[in-house]
Amino acid sequence: ETAHTADLVVFGGTGDLSMRKLLPALYHGDREGRLAPGTRVIAMSRGGLTDEDFRGKVDAEVRDRIPGGDPEVWRRFLGRLHHVSVDVGGRAADGGADRSGWDALSALLAGHEDRDRVFYLASPPRTFGVFCRELADAGLVTPRSRVVLEKPLGHDLISAQRINDEVGAIFDERQIFRIDHYLGKETVQNLLVLRFANAFLEPIWNSLWIDHVQITAAETVGTPGRRGYYDHAGALRDMVQNHLLQLLCLTAMEPPARNDREAIRDEKVKVLQALRPITGGEVERFTVRGQYVESGDMPGYLDEPASTPPTEESRRVETFTAIRAEIRNWRWAGVPFYLRTGKRLPRRVSEIVVQFKDVPHSIFPGGTPNRLVLRLQPEEGIRLHIMAKEPGAGEVTLKPVPLTLSFGETFTARVPEAYERLLMDVLAGNPTLFMRRDEVEAAWRWIDPILATWEASDQLPEPYPAGSAGPAGAHDLLARSGRAWHEDVS
Ligand code: BG6
Repeated sequence: ETAHTADLVVFGGTGDLSMRKLLPALYHGDREGRLAPGTRVIAMSRGGLTDEDFRGKVDAEVRDRIPGGDPEVWRRFLGRLHHVSVDVGGRAADGGADRSGWDALSALLAGHEDRDRVFYLASPPRTFGVFCRELADAGLVTPRSRVVLEKPLGHDLISAQRINDEVGAIFDERQIFRIDHYLGKETVQNLLVLRFANAFLEPIWNSLWIDHVQITAAETVGTPGRRGYYDHAGALRDMVQNHLLQLLCLTAMEPPARNDREAIRDEKVKVLQALRPITGGEVERFTVRGQYVESGDMPGYLDEPASTPPTEESRRVETFTAIRAEIRNWRWAGVPFYLRTGKRLPRRVSEIVVQFKDVPHSIFPGGTPNRLVLRLQPEEGIRLHIMAKEPGAGEVTLKPVPLTLSFGETFTARVPEAYERLLMDVLAGNPTLFMRRDEVEAAWRWIDPILATWEASDQLPEPYPAGSAGPAGAHDLLARSGRAWHEDVS
């Protein structure tokens, strides 16, 4: 599927995501010839900018983010940009609703009904339903229209269902593209190739050979300036409900029969539906939550710069979580999947570690079980730790050594950012790497009881010093069964 000429309308078009990710991604698409001639990018915001103002802003703020940019492509790209001011809830001079933004958008789109139309909602989720209705009322939703929803898709199952209903009242499910940017990462897609384009892994990809799996997304950043969002989110909603569960699905799913839009999503949703619920007293046993506190020159969560002082909610929100998940099916029965994510950890590293069992019978002393590490970032690659004999004529001495595939060294091509891949897929109408309604809701269904138990608890998250490897509870979660986190984030 190649892209047709499209009008891409971005709500929140001058916001952080747009300036940092979407516009650079579109520029790269343009440079590589993947934006059809005539394709326009229309930013919607309250900013009151003209097209010229917006182009000037993008020129000043985005150009530097694109090392080695091509001036000619850049000029062409700027020429594709437009801006429309929309004031939702604003009042016109006569006291009625201010429709001028919608009128301006209608005028810009008029006569282009045959184009693909993409409405990208990079605005807060409470606006999703409103914007979809406004677009429909203004007669702007054509059969060739799609809508892209940014996260967070609700803050629990009920709110996610409400958003899905509101958007679903206007758009068909096949027109709805729900973003999880982790699915656009190169290594994440490579996981499917590794599993399903090689013969040697699949026969051992099960509870007979695998002891457990660890999925880590560790970040060094804190949450400066984000408290307004983060107080109501926390690591479980912000990272686990979406990114980590998607990684779990791709790691655990059955081989699909085809590489097509529904086959892969069908298999992923089956994994989510097979997750063993963690409820009641198990929440304390199988989940850990932490919050970073001041350490050295790093502020604690409560001291991060924010526009309002911390509240009780701020004190209760988790900036770290670790969970022991289980998948109740034939392939994975009894294999723990440990999930872990946190802010202000010592290193930024996202990886999936598949820990194999030990050899059934050892004839050499001192071996350690194999493990496969998929590194999502940084330094994308795959490492298989195997046992080798250390050279020497004396006793056989075993040593674990890595077989390493570094994507950077093996492939010289530029590694595209996740958003590039995803935006090009939206323009080409390919939803494979987007979340279907049933997936999002199945993920919330598993998360909800954990959240509810945390919320009802009078315990606060365990403090951990900013820059440390997280709270002690995370260590204990594995140590209880004689296991340990690999490549500790420190
Ligand atoms: C976002 C979260 O979805 O993912 C952020 O809202 C987080 O809190 C980010 O920092 C991490 O993305 P990446 O691509 O840097 O791993």
